[in-house]
Amino acid sequence: MSKPKRYTITAALPYANGPLHLGHIAGAYLPADIYVRYLKSQGHDIAFICGSDEHGAAITLRAKKEGKTPQQIVDENHQIIKKAFEDFGIDFSIYHRTSSPIHHETAAGIFKDLYEKNAFTQETSEQFYDEKEQQFLADRYIIGTCPKCSYDNAYGDQCEKCGSTLSPTDLINPKSAISGNIPVLKETSHWYLPMNEHEDWLRTWLEEGKLDGKFHHDPKSWKKNVLGQCKSWIDNGLQARSITRDLDWGVKVPIEGANGKVLYVWFDAPIGYISATKAWAEQNGKNWEDYWKKEDTELIHFIGKDNIVFHAIIFPIILKAHGDYILPTNVPANEFLNLEGDKISTSRNWAVWLHEYLADFPERQDELRYVLTSIAPETKDSEFTWKDFQARVNNELVAILGNFVNRTVVLTHKYYDGKIPSISNKTDLDDEVLAVIATIQTKVNELLSQFKFRDAQTEAMTLARIGNKYLADTEPWKLIKTDEERVKTILHVSLQICNALSEVFEPFLPATSKKLKAMLNSNEAKLTAGHQINQPTLLFQKIEDDVIEAQIKKLKESNKQQSNPKAKPMKDEITFDDFTKMDIRTGTILTAEKHPDADKLLKMTVDTGIDVRTIVSGIAEHYAPEEVIGKQVSVLINLAPRKIRGIVSQGMILMAEDNEGNLAFVSPERAIDNGGEVR
Ligand code: 2FM
Ligand code: ZN
Repeated sequence: MSKPKRYTITAALPYANGPLHLGHIAGAYLPADIYVRYLKSQGHDIAFICGSDEHGAAITLRAKKEGKTPQQIVDENHQIIKKAFEDFGIDFSIYHRTSSPIHHETAAGIFKDLYEKNAFTQETSEQFYDEKEQQFLADRYIIGTCPKCSYDNAYGDQCEKCGSTLSPTDLINPKSAISGNIPVLKETSHWYLPMNEHEDWLRTWLEEGKLDGKFHHDPKSWKKNVLGQCKSWIDNGLQARSITRDLDWGVKVPIEGANGKVLYVWFDAPIGYISATKAWAEQNGKNWEDYWKKEDTELIHFIGKDNIVFHAIIFPIILKAHGDYILPTNVPANEFLNLEGDKISTSRNWAVWLHEYLADFPERQDELRYVLTSIAPETKDSEFTWKDFQARVNNELVAILGNFVNRTVVLTHKYYDGKIPSISNKTDLDDEVLAVIATIQTKVNELLSQFKFRDAQTEAMTLARIGNKYLADTEPWKLIKTDEERVKTILHVSLQICNALSEVFEPFLPATSKKLKAMLNSNEAKLTAGHQINQPTLLFQKIEDDVIEAQIKKLKESNKQQSNPKAKPMKDEITFDDFTKMDIRTGTILTAEKHPDADKLLKMTVDTGIDVRTIVSGIAEHYAPEEVIGKQVSVLINLAPRKIRGIVSQGMILMAEDNEGNLAFVSPERAIDNGGEVR
């Protein structure tokens, strides 16, 4: 065991604008939790930090769309996310939030400090402005066509299709994400982080692992994908980046005259790690500064690959410019997890949501942990499928790990009433197997220390495989008739393997490890002869086909685009404001006649509750005039009047049309006064 050290381990703060899906878990949270559990087993001192990222345009836009306040949105999602982490066994020291006063104070304090150290520049520039909403449009507030891949719905800061980082003025045909309006350019002043001034030390730090001329970390311990991305950013030349925004949701810029401006969400979010540590330290009688300012503390950020630049370049610049803080010694970022042959997409609802998984499988946290680690996207994108999930649970957890433990514990009870038999006359095979336990434990730890969680778990499973093979080779159930002494040794060795399994699997399968330790009635590194163990319980249950089919069906049905291939695909998302612009009322058709000059059209008069008006509609091939008279319908009354074949139509009667061209009125389900608002 290495000398105990102090670690600050962070996991990316999830945006509190929606729940977590399996991609998030496989990307950052599960590897972080496994690593922390491993460190704890080695006796290290750890602050494991996470919390909700509650600022940013993703949250305010969602609030607007749902007609709620940003605070309501983050309150709802913070609770859902926090609970899902707890239920899943992700054991943070603290799960904090960036809307908390201590965070606002900390982020504003760091900004102020850097401002006073002249770490920023101030620049006035023209930025897009929505005149109707009286708001500047940065980041996700502006959408348009991506100049790189022509995707129509690229954001002002990023194209989600091709992954390019953009700035609003790069967009072709930009429009406001709030109103759809064409924006104008207007002058505004902001603070910038001159990243270009930091290129030299960043390069030395990243490439050589040296900081201020001293050894800082071994760059060979960093993942190639992380270093590669950083190098390409620096090689392309770092640009000054604006770190304030004209918005009212976020940390207020703590400078006189900066009214109506807040810190850019990516400036305040990583500082959230520091404020969360402060809150945790306060609650636990610790000194937060030990975890952020002492050079012998290791700071490690677990993230997904879309967060690399923020954690390996921008946040380090902020920390270094401040001067008192340590820099990360590693940023182990994972690639992306795909789902059933497609990219995970929250807007298309192509995702397995963690809180839904936990509701459907309240006793199967470890099964999901196991599978997500088996397929962890450590070096390249990987894929989750329900069939693979089932196969790994049934063929590995049930058939290998569960089976070995069960056979050993059952036989111990059958032959020795649950008392661990003593060992005698060891054969070479026994010695080999006992020696392999220690080898595997060392190997697992070594792999964990290198962030190779997938390989580490495979290695842990190897021990269970060895156990099964040992039982198959020695066949104690046959020997019991002829050589009882030998059976004692075999079961003793097998129980030692079970005990070692409870240790090596703890980081990966904490609930199972706990169950196994309870079964063995021990928390010790080795079991002793004569020790009484408890009755066997099954560690894992087989997953049947119907359970998996139900999940696949659920996924397909909730997928907004593909559940019914006959239905037209969903149109672009609109805001709540867009929707409320339409004034739809209940109305009754009073008269109807065929249009004198057009076979397809009916001319009707409709009582809208406000007035009686003429509406022309293309339904004459589906309905005879007498069929529609007296019908109560839904009418869009504020549609600008249009002349249709010589008759002015004042509004539109809403109709549903299926793929085969069948029409039906959208009528109130029971009679209601005309003029009732439809919303
Ligand atoms: O990508 C995200 O989900 C961000 N909310 C991560 C922030 S990590 C840190 F900087 F807070
Ligand atoms: Zn693009």
